[in-house]
This record gives sequence, C-alpha cells and structure tokens, in this order.
Amino acid sequence: MVDVILGMQWGDEGKGKIVDFFAKDYDLVARFQGGPNAGHTLYVGSGNTKVVLHQIPSGVFHQGTVNLIGNGVVLDPVTLRKECDTVAGFGVDLKKNLFISERAHLILPTHRALDKAAELSKGDSKIGSTLKGIGPTYMDKTGRNGLRVGDLLSPDFKAAYDQLRTKHQQLLDNYGFEEDITAWEAEFFESIEFLKTLNIVNGEYFINDKISQGKRVLAEGAQGSMLDIDFGTFPFVTSSNTISAGVCNGLGVAPQKIREVIGVSKAYCTRVGSGPFPTELHNATGEELRRIGSEFGATTGRPRRCGWMDLVALQYACMINGVTSIVMTKADVLDSFEELSVCTSYKIDGEDSSQVPFQMTRHVIEPQYQVFEGWKSDSSVCKSAAELPVKMQEYVAFINKNLSAPVTYISNGPGRDQLVRL
Ligand code: GDP
Ligand code: IMO
Ligand code: MG
Repeated sequence: MVDVILGMQWGDEGKGKIVDFFAKDYDLVARFQGGPNAGHTLYVGSGNTKVVLHQIPSGVFHQGTVNLIGNGVVLDPVTLRKECDTVAGFGVDLKKNLFISERAHLILPTHRALDKAAELSKGDSKIGSTLKGIGPTYMDKTGRNGLRVGDLLSPDFKAAYDQLRTKHQQLLDNYGFEEDITAWEAEFFESIEFLKTLNIVNGEYFINDKISQGKRVLAEGAQGSMLDIDFGTFPFVTSSNTISAGVCNGLGVAPQKIREVIGVSKAYCTRVGSGPFPTELHNATGEELRRIGSEFGATTGRPRRCGWMDLVALQYACMINGVTSIVMTKADVLDSFEELSVCTSYKIDGEDSSQVPFQMTRHVIEPQYQVFEGWKSDSSVCKSAAELPVKMQEYVAFINKNLSAPVTYISNGPGRDQLVRL
C-alpha cells in the first residue's frame, strides 16, 4: 500500500521535515510531481546540518529506505548532480538508494530560458515562477515534444535535443530573449553523463513490485494543493497535479493502492510568488510571522507572503485530496502572539460562502475570522500532547471541529525530534 504526504496550502508547509521523520517506517519514498521548484528543508546528521532537497526524495538519509524519482517529476540533471554531491557528502550511497524513472521528463537549458522569457513578457501579471523551467517542460510533455530520462540512453539523443532546441530558439527569438545560454548547455551535457551513471529504471514496475512484495511505500508531494494545476488558484499555480490524484499518474500506482493521505499544513499561511491569498496580512503582524517563522523561500530566497490560517482553503484541500490526517507545522511560530485569527468563511462579493471560488482574482474576498487568545509560552520544548499549552490545544480542537480530518501531530520546531503526537 501507498501512503501520501502532501502540502495543503501554497507550498513550504514543512513536507521535507515530515517525510524525513516518517521515512524510517517506509521501504520506499517516491516523488510523484514537480521538480527543482521544490525546496524541502531537512536537518540531518549528527551535527543537525541543514540540507535543502529539490529533486531527491526526503527519505534519502535513512539507511534501508530506497528513493524513487517518479515519471511525474520533471528533472534537471544539473541541479540533480549538485544535490547528489551534497547528499553523498553525508555518506549516502546513491547507487544503492536512488532510482529514477526513465519516463521522467528532462528540463533542458532552453526550458529555463523560456520560463524566464515568458515571465518577463508577462510584466506585472507574472506568475512569480521559480524560473527553474517547470512550466515549459510540462508544456513540452503535454505537447508531446519533451525528452525523457530514458532517451539519454539512446544514440539519437543529441539529434532529438538539437531538434527541440531549434524549436525553442524560435520561441526565444519571438520573445526577444538574448541571454547567452552556452554555459548552461555545457553544464547540462556534463550533468547528463553523471545522470547516466545512476539507476535508471522502469518506475511503474519498480514501485508496483515493491507494493506486491508488501513493502511500505510513501509518496512525497511537492508544492501544495492550492498550487495544483487544476484545483489551485489558476493561473497562479505550478504546472503539475500536486494533489493525491497526482500520485497515480506520477508513479503508475492504482487509486485503490492509496491508503493514508497525510496533509501538511502550517498553523498559519504563506505563499511565495504572485496570486490570490485571501488571509494575507499586509501589516506588522504579517512581518512578525515572516520574521519569527524565517519565511524566505528555500529555493529562491524570496520573502514569503504571510497570513492567518484559512479553514476554507484547508477544508477544500481535505476534500480534493481525501486527507485522512493532518500534521500541523510551525505551531511554535505563534508562541509570542497576543491574538490569533482563523478564517472560518469568506464573504465573496458580499455573500457568505464556505467554498473556494472558481476564480479568486475576479471577486472581492473578505475572510471572516474567529479570534483566539494566544498561548504566550514556549511550545518548542514540549515533548508530549499533555505538555502543549492549553490555549494551543483549544486552537487545535477548533480546527478539528471545522475540518473533515483530524490534526494528529503538531510540529513545534524545525528539528527532527520536534514533533508531538496528539
Ligand atoms: P517544504 O517545501 O514543505 O518541505 O517546506 P520548506 O522546507 O520550504 O519550508 C519549511 C521551513 O520551516 C523550513 O525552513 C523548515 O526547517 C521549517 N520548519 C519545518 N517545521 C517547522 C516547525 O514546526 N517549526 C519551525 N519553527 N520551523 C519549521
Ligand atoms: P515546495 O515543494 C512554494 C510557486 C512559485 C510560483 C508558482 C509557479 O518547496 O513546497 P513554478 O516554478 O512551479 O512554475 O512556479 O508556484 N512554487 C512554490 N511555492 N513552494 C514550492 O515548492 C513551490 N514550487 C513552486 O513561487 O508562485
Ligand atoms: Mg519548500
């Protein structure tokens, strides 16, 4: 059976830490979508060293857990090589525990250039993409032009590359993009030689064989449900299905094989990049959340926009994903606040609603809040549910009452051991 850990908001919920925590209970951890737009932060090794993973699944630091980069991922060989070097520095043997689906699509240097050119051309209405080439690579996948990891092993790879590159150059010329990308291409060709030395497998047989053998499999999401290409705040989304359904087509796993869907949500909200964010705070409280929560992008370093918890969006994520339990992260960030607000419904163009609308940017959305007294104590030292501040327990009880899945863990610090079971 397959369990899933995914983000319920706009990404950066702390998925990496939670996957790393649970990975010891699994034989295989698999990424099913996204690419190097993801930045999953882990603290590993005896020195509790910070590592940010972009494409390698967050189970990689556990001996005995193997890791698969699934077909639904878009893979940048350049970033991958750098990440492999970092991970190998901790003594991890990637020849033993990293496997890559031959069906994963490759991010080419021109995809990165196209991402940049498209964003520049949009001016103020840009998506605020990570500029990693994600959108153009998925466009080439659905447009049936893309190159896949398995193609690297073919003698025709260079010819296919040149053909696609020519097509991309025409698009870049249309955009008036003049940056020289020769250095990117040199790096790319060096990196694919490295990629060819890794375990390239048929991912769908690889994972289904494990499932048939009764092995425990964990699927790791990237981004968050509100960035899903279908159900997120389109067009301000990423280009893949970040939700639990993405596990099926991103790994080749049948729906009935999915068991638990663990949703990760911060105790408040953040978003990086453009797009609607109903509970965003444009005031000193928002800045406090950013400062205390160190809310800066793990991939791009951009400041994250911050705001209160949004139960309308969270319940939507519960519904779309079939979430069975919730891990609430960064609860400690709220420790010093006098008051906390939770959005329980929206007023959309003056009408009460408890639903996420089709197009958030076309409406005036006023979040309706319930206000709570803060707990004003250090929750980061708590080791058990009973030790958690009473007011935090009340905050969680309220959230539980409003969502169709219960909060089962509270994360109260970035450290590996800072996770309290409720
Ligand atoms: P991901 O993309 O969902 O894996 O999340 P990121 O790694 O991009 O961002 C989460 C950030 O919050 C990282 O810097 C984590 O180290 C940190 N973090 C995770 N859980 C907690 C927590 O419970 N408390 C605090 N204070 N920080 C946390
Ligand atoms: P993790 O896995 C937060 C956002 C970008 C932008 C939009 C589209 O760390 O949670 P893209 O480069 O995907 O075309 O950008 O999506 N975005 C993320 N925001 N966390 C992420 O990943 C993100 N990956 C993409 O900021 O708004
Ligand atoms: Mg992140």
